[in-house]
Amino acid sequence: MGAYYNIAMYKIIDKRILADNVNEYVIEAPLAAKNAAPGQFVILRVDEQGERVPFTIADYDTEKGTVTILVQTVGATTWQLSLKQAGDCVADFVGPLGNPTDLSRYGKVLLVGGGIGGAVIHPQAKLLHSLGKAPDVVLGARTKELLLYIDEMRRYSSELFAMTDDGSYGGKGFVTDKVAELIESRVYDAVLAVGPLPMMQAVCEVTRPVGLKTIVSMNSVMVDGTGMCGCCRVTVGGERKYACVDGPEFDGHKVDFAEAGLRQGFYREQEKEHYCRIRGEVK
Ligand SMILES: Cc1cc2nc3c(=O)[nH]c(=O)nc-3n(C[C@H](O)[C@H](O)[C@H](O)COP(=O)(O)OP(=O)(O)OC[C@H]3O[C@@H](n4cnc5c(N)ncnc54)[C@H](O)[C@@H]3O)c2cc1C
Ligand code: FES
Repeated sequence: MGAYYNIAMYKIIDKRILADNVNEYVIEAPLAAKNAAPGQFVILRVDEQGERVPFTIADYDTEKGTVTILVQTVGATTWQLSLKQAGDCVADFVGPLGNPTDLSRYGKVLLVGGGIGGAVIHPQAKLLHSLGKAPDVVLGARTKELLLYIDEMRRYSSELFAMTDDGSYGGKGFVTDKVAELIESRVYDAVLAVGPLPMMQAVCEVTRPVGLKTIVSMNSVMVDGTGMCGCCRVTVGGERKYACVDGPEFDGHKVDFAEAGLRQGFYREQEKEHYCRIRGEVK
């Protein structure tokens, strides 16, 4: 007897260009929307032959049955996705995956987002705001154009601080400069820092001397998202963890960032070749 496959398609309800190479997609996925919580992610495939790629749940609407993701075009799959428009579909959309992070038990929270990291801190800011615990937020990017979700963050934060490398918006410098200034003059119970690995590591080095709890979101390379393949291994406090099932958020003061950096670059050559093949630049 032949096998039967039920291929569900997930419709893109809306698409917005947020910045150069960064798109926001609102995707019809009622089950994922119903069960989603801040800190979780989805794994999607653009088409049936596609790679499985993880994206943070940047927002969700239980009534409309939609999940929002922000996607930065960095390689083959994100490039294929960038060609999709509202009304198109993606083949798979699995989630929510990973553990939600509950920041509501902390009194005052500082959220720090660098670049696409804004996707992770957005649902946290929204939830904390709805609980009457609006967080302070530091958003950083290279330039003004790359600051993501600035209006949303302003709405949900008690105070918003923007930092740009070139000073084109907010303060000139890195998010760590602002974090150092803030923790000297204000009292926080926890920090959630999300962005590129070096940024998260730098924030941890600022908060470590004062023993301020700092949570980071590990964007390790993932394949199955179920703890089976071992791809997303990270070392936390000397123990082996898997970002997909034990994380993706961990105590930043315990994460081995040097190892995480090495593991993230493992497949760079193969990814480059795959991108060129997909774009027809090599045969
Ligand atoms: C939990 C989690 C949440 C993420 N959330 C977001 C998000 O909200 N928005 C966003 O733009 N990106 C997010 N990413 C990163 C995103 O998954 C990668 O950018 C994407 O997989 C790149 O695929 P590609 O084929 O376009 O690029 P490739 O050329 O294949 O890879 C470019 C780089 O992306 C990373 N990458 C590649 N494949 C994977 C993979 N299977 N899993 C994880 N990283 C990979 C590697 O660092 C790689 O060097 C997240 C990653 C994780 C693990
Ligand atoms: S993605 Fe395979 S173990 Fe986490």
